[in-house]
Amino acid sequence: MTKPREIPNQPSPAQDAAPPIPAMDLLRFTTAGSVDDGKSTLIGRLLYDSKAIFQDQLEAVEQASRSRGDDYVDLALLTDGLRAEREQGITIDVAYRYFATPKRKFIIADTPGHIQYTRNMVTGASTAELAVILIDARKGVVTQSKRHSFIATLLRIPHLLIAINKMDLVDYSQEVYNRIVAQFREFAVKLNAQDVVYIPVSALHGDNVVTKSPNMPWYDGPTLLHHLESVNVGASRNLVDFRFPVQYVIRPHQDFRGFAGQIASGRIRPGEEVVVLPSGQKSRVRAIVTMDGELEEAVAGDSVVLTLEDEIDISRGDMIVRARNLPQKANQVDAILCWMSEEPLDPSRPYWVQHTTRTVKGFITELNYRIDVDTMHRQPAETLALNEIGRIQLTATQPLFYDRYQLNRATGGFILIDPFTNNTVAAGMIRGKSRQVTDLVETPVALPDRRKSSHVVWERVGITREMREQLNGHKAGVLWFTGLSGSGKSTVARRLEQRLFQLGCRTFFLDGDNLRHGLNGDLGFSPEDRKENIRRVAEVAKLAFEHGNLVLASFISPYQEDRDFARSLLPPGRFFEIFVKCDIEVCKRRDPKGLYAKALRGEIKGFTGIDAPYEEPTNPEMVVETDLRSSEEIVEEILQELVRAGLLKGM
Ligand code: ADX
Repeated sequence: MTKPREIPNQPSPAQDAAPPIPAMDLLRFTTAGSVDDGKSTLIGRLLYDSKAIFQDQLEAVEQASRSRGDDYVDLALLTDGLRAEREQGITIDVAYRYFATPKRKFIIADTPGHIQYTRNMVTGASTAELAVILIDARKGVVTQSKRHSFIATLLRIPHLLIAINKMDLVDYSQEVYNRIVAQFREFAVKLNAQDVVYIPVSALHGDNVVTKSPNMPWYDGPTLLHHLESVNVGASRNLVDFRFPVQYVIRPHQDFRGFAGQIASGRIRPGEEVVVLPSGQKSRVRAIVTMDGELEEAVAGDSVVLTLEDEIDISRGDMIVRARNLPQKANQVDAILCWMSEEPLDPSRPYWVQHTTRTVKGFITELNYRIDVDTMHRQPAETLALNEIGRIQLTATQPLFYDRYQLNRATGGFILIDPFTNNTVAAGMIRGKSRQVTDLVETPVALPDRRKSSHVVWERVGITREMREQLNGHKAGVLWFTGLSGSGKSTVARRLEQRLFQLGCRTFFLDGDNLRHGLNGDLGFSPEDRKENIRRVAEVAKLAFEHGNLVLASFISPYQEDRDFARSLLPPGRFFEIFVKCDIEVCKRRDPKGLYAKALRGEIKGFTGIDAPYEEPTNPEMVVETDLRSSEEIVEEILQELVRAGLLKGM
């Protein structure tokens, strides 16, 4: 069950006797390419050439292991890690291969390159941190290269390595290389790729794979292996939100009851308060047990057994989380789906939804659109065929406890299984709660009926929003911060605006207190006045939006209906309702303006949260919890969301 824990330099009596083994980290990567792109040759080359390097080390390691009285350490640990992964369930048609260099261990999810490439790639890539996309130098960027890259970014694999292969067949031409790089770059702007590296190689002859090629003196970047060894891993791991899907309940004897699984994200220590989902029962972690003894702390990726202070009924498929940091809960979710079966999607049929260690029945209640990977355009669709990607609304018969895939690959991903054949037919990535998707095409939206004065016409502006956006280098949007007074809306918005400003973005800041000094100074806090307040603000936000700005609007805006009105003025995908969530007790304690104290003394009537309602957003784009996270963290998260949503370019 135990996975290697990479604790460097932990002194132990056994190790004192032997030369220390350097703590090596692990990179999981996947490869994608069409049949003839030379993928197998490349993997063969990597395994073969790196083994030569490893050979020297092997002896040292073996010697060290022997003197410790252990069996051979590293390979055993590697296989252990994999076993845990297999038990997570998402393993089909993927051959895992291992190799190591003195710097790092590697696991390649080698996905056979036949026609079912999407399916295999999705499967292999679910835990990968890097994807090697092979491009045949003679063919350049083809549809499959685009599809593979798109899937890699959908799966949020943080690093893309574009290996331009068969350079020997184009006379190691720099011109060919440059042309392909330019071609790919043009496509990549439509992706949310975070890190893309281009390397010209010849897998067959070994150029730039492990050793630098004398045939391409014009290339001064790293070799493929060097990049694999040095790319920053782990940065994409979620170490914040503790999620522990229970795989097995272990009860060797009456006095021991433990819950085994792999920590999907976050970290945990003994003594911490936890909640078991779905039952909601609370307890504390008594111990974190592994085969090597108890741990003081376990983190994402560790396979452990947890014991709890209290006797609670827990079974496979339950999830243990931290009491103050719960995942989202919904029966209906909005997701991107990669269809992986020969048999097309059938909306009338039930499917098994396998989500973490839990399996529930579900239906695809809506297929919103299909994505054309060549153009990235959305097309209306009745079904999804093999290898097609689309946006769906999924209804499960029991609630799912999830995080958005963007924040958590483990609890945001799921697969669909055909209940009749037991085949995996699709892989999905949860975007959030189910929503009405109207953004098939990103042009005219039907605007709601707005009041207008009589005898007025709409004056067209010669400069369009698109033109302004082009000049600005980013898209326009409205970030609507809603939450209680003192929840931190303005603090977060202000900080975000500073970051956006540094990034060279055009911003426009609207704040409740400020607007109530002028434009809205005639309004009070009755439901009607608040409605009018938000109506005016929404209209101003819309104007600023049309002028190409990223608008930051910070208002309590306690009514869903009013916020929905603000949303309705904008094209789909441009309005971000950001729920700034904070426990009211914390808001009261903060009380930055002393208003809670006044309200509690009865000096202010109709104060939100005290004697006036606050309707929590039913379907916000983001929820940020200021009592759990720092505003810096939150701001980075919002920036990432803006990149993902295509408003900002990757940073
Ligand atoms: S909203 O409800 O109409 O959206 P808005 O965000 O514009 O409110 O203004 C809220 C600010 O007004 C608060 O941050 C607070 O400083 C101040 N305020 C004064 N009276 C009230 C009240 N009764 N309820 C809420 N906020 C109030």
